[in-house]
Amino acid sequence: MKIALCCSVKKSEPEKPPDYYSEFDSEETVRRLSLTIQSFGHEVVIVETNRRANLINFFQNNSVDFVFNIAEGSDSRFRESEVPALLDFLGIPYTGSNSFTLALALNKAMAKRIFKYENIPTPNFQVFDAANTPLNPRLKFPLIVKPNYEGSGKGISALSVVNNQNELYRQVSQTLYAYQQEVLVEEFIEGRELTVGILANGNITVLPILEIDFSECKESGEFFYSWRMKEFQGNREMGLIPSFYCPARISEEVSARVKETALKAHKALGCLDISRTDIRLSNDNIPYVLEVNPLPGLNPEESNFPMIAKAYKIEYRNLIKTILESALERYEMGSFYPQKTTEGIHK
Ligand SMILES: Nc1ncnc2c1ncn2[C@@H]1O[C@H](COP(=O)(O)OP(=O)(O)O)[C@@H](O)[C@H]1O
Ligand SMILES: [Mg+2]
Repeated sequence: MKIALCCSVKKSEPEKPPDYYSEFDSEETVRRLSLTIQSFGHEVVIVETNRRANLINFFQNNSVDFVFNIAEGSDSRFRESEVPALLDFLGIPYTGSNSFTLALALNKAMAKRIFKYENIPTPNFQVFDAANTPLNPRLKFPLIVKPNYEGSGKGISALSVVNNQNELYRQVSQTLYAYQQEVLVEEFIEGRELTVGILANGNITVLPILEIDFSECKESGEFFYSWRMKEFQGNREMGLIPSFYCPARISEEVSARVKETALKAHKALGCLDISRTDIRLSNDNIPYVLEVNPLPGLNPEESNFPMIAKAYKIEYRNLIKTILESALERYEMGSFYPQKTTEGIHK
């Protein structure tokens, strides 16, 4: 098959803010992904989608059988849905969630309204579209202030956690100005940081929970999965050295509840093939869903999802194969590969 790998590749442009390209993939991720797909016997063409003209010209002038999609799109509030929307319009099948789910998951507040409706725990919240919006008195400090339509920790630092109205309004104004979008203010949940990977391959597999422990990072000034923590993860000099535990250090019973919650969130947003749900487990063991990532990072060494897969003995190549197979089956394009593994929620 001829497969286009639609991706958004990081550039170094000194005039842009340091987190500008954080959502984009490194050349190394794209190279490894491309080699992996080729290793199944497919022809792979890399299509960089950050330049609109590239994308449109490519599909006007080339025919492909399938798209492996990890594209972030442009810089709009619907950016992750742009490539799938174009592919649907052109009738080209692709991996992963559709444009509706991608736009919905990118809008954290809208996704949280759905979680609330579905009785999925999510921190209480309020959306600020102006710096003088009165604070809902039911929200309890400490609160965390985040841009509503970002990922990779963009706009999130230790300063984002605020303890009083002064700090809140300073941070809301700063975030509104820097990111030019609505700001999400949420109750800050003390407790464990967990993330749950889900693969849909025929049935749905909820992989073992990954726990990220920041207790060794105190001297860095960062104490959760902020932008600096994600961007410089593993940097000893900066003290940004989180510890990873997969499976998480929680009881079977709590683990089952966390997985069930992540699965409900995955289904509530209509995710396809793959998702990774970020959760804070409160000290009284309530799994609060922060967000669902339908396009989780796929760097074989650094990203959380391949880390989880490895702990479940799914090597990188098999992970990519599973995503591709799952998508091919959805389009009834058959499978080139032997039958799937056993399914179900992994205990
Ligand atoms: N309500 C919250 N309570 C505690 N920590 C939070 C909360 N919201 C965000 N965080 C911290 O910030 C990180 C990034 O937040 P998240 O909402 O997942 O945004 P992103 O899309 O940038 O990953 C989380 O992984 C967590 O460490
Ligand atoms: Mg997150």
